[in-house]
Amino acid sequence: MSPLNVAVIGGGIGRAHIAEGYAKLPALFRVRALCDIDPVRLANVGAEFAIPRLTANFEDVLAMADIDIIDICTPPSLHFPQILAALATGKHVVCEKPLVGSLAEADAVIAAQAGAKGRLLPIFQVRYGNGLQKARHIINAGLAGKPYLATVETHWWRDAAYYAVPWRGKYATELGGALLGHAIHAHDVLTYLMGPIASVFGRADTRVNPIEVEDTAVASLVMCSGALASLSVTLGSAREITRVRLCFEHVTFQSSLVPYASGNDPWQIIPTSTKSGMAIDAALADWRFVPSRFEGLFAAFHSALVTDGELPVTLADARASLELITALYHSSQTGQPVSLPIGPEHPKYHSWRPA
Ligand SMILES: NC(=O)c1ccc[n+]([C@@H]2O[C@H](COP(=O)([O-])OP(=O)(O)OC[C@H]3O[C@@H](n4cnc5c(N)ncnc54)[C@H](O)[C@@H]3O)[C@@H](O)[C@H]2O)c1
Repeated sequence: MSPLNVAVIGGGIGRAHIAEGYAKLPALFRVRALCDIDPVRLANVGAEFAIPRLTANFEDVLAMADIDIIDICTPPSLHFPQILAALATGKHVVCEKPLVGSLAEADAVIAAQAGAKGRLLPIFQVRYGNGLQKARHIINAGLAGKPYLATVETHWWRDAAYYAVPWRGKYATELGGALLGHAIHAHDVLTYLMGPIASVFGRADTRVNPIEVEDTAVASLVMCSGALASLSVTLGSAREITRVRLCFEHVTFQSSLVPYASGNDPWQIIPTSTKSGMAIDAALADWRFVPSRFEGLFAAFHSALVTDGELPVTLADARASLELITALYHSSQTGQPVSLPIGPEHPKYHSWRPA
């Protein structure tokens, strides 16, 4: 089978999609077009990867008959209309986080996907890393036992230079703050490994930068399994870390501290008994290395497309991440806990942003 032809929209994180993902998988993908309204970025990224077609016009890409995948890496407020337009062409679609700006938009995308020829991959590349995937394998093999407790820390650093990009720091264009834009990855890892969330109590504040959206938050969760979880988030940590620690009956997992690739080795996998340790060792005996971030995610995406298998990140996963966001904002604004799931009757279903 020949490689799938990709058009990347937006050359910021879109450049990393190419460098870390598509360019490392030349047998699976070819980047044939790049679209960016910034002419300098368009020319630079286009030249760096010898991309044959460069355009500032998204409509041009929609009309390119040979493109199989449109990969949307534009600012968050553009995702919803661009996803709908891209799905309407029948092509496959990849879209950066946050997928869209509300649960209502997520449900509209789910409905559009159901009637579309192409499939939609939401981005959660931190899932891909050899350490995290071993933990997932142990849990899926039924060897972890009852989930007890999780702590998830997203302690990063952002300063004025970061917020000089005009769309950042504002509800209208970034759609939210550190909970939405930064901690969303580690919080996705929590549900990826420990399952869905039942209840959320959150507190959010803006303490680090003079911005409209939050940059510091904490939350207390009850998972559907009954396990308890705590989240802490700041963009004011002098040393950047992401840490996920998950305590189960038979094993405790602890991620590396690496902030943007916390799925990578080394993960500590600490069995609670010799018997558990032997079962885990046996389960990992034939383990095959899982590549990191976009390379691992896009390889799994290609495999799902050719086998018609389950996507490595589903629309349900993306919706669940936005449901947590909605609950966190509602709880921190009202001072009340929020029960999940959240449907159309919820006051923040159409927007989690303050009125
Ligand atoms: N997965 C991750 O780890 C990760 C990391 C960073 C950003 N992101 C997400 O990726 C998205 C983009 O973030 P970024 O940091 O790359 O932003 P950015 O501002 O650096 O890049 C976005 C690019 O999109 C271009 N653009 C804007 N409107 C456009 C349009 N209508 N058509 C074509 N191009 C257009 C801009 O010129 C810019 O070059 C956001 O949703 C962000 O949350 C994800």
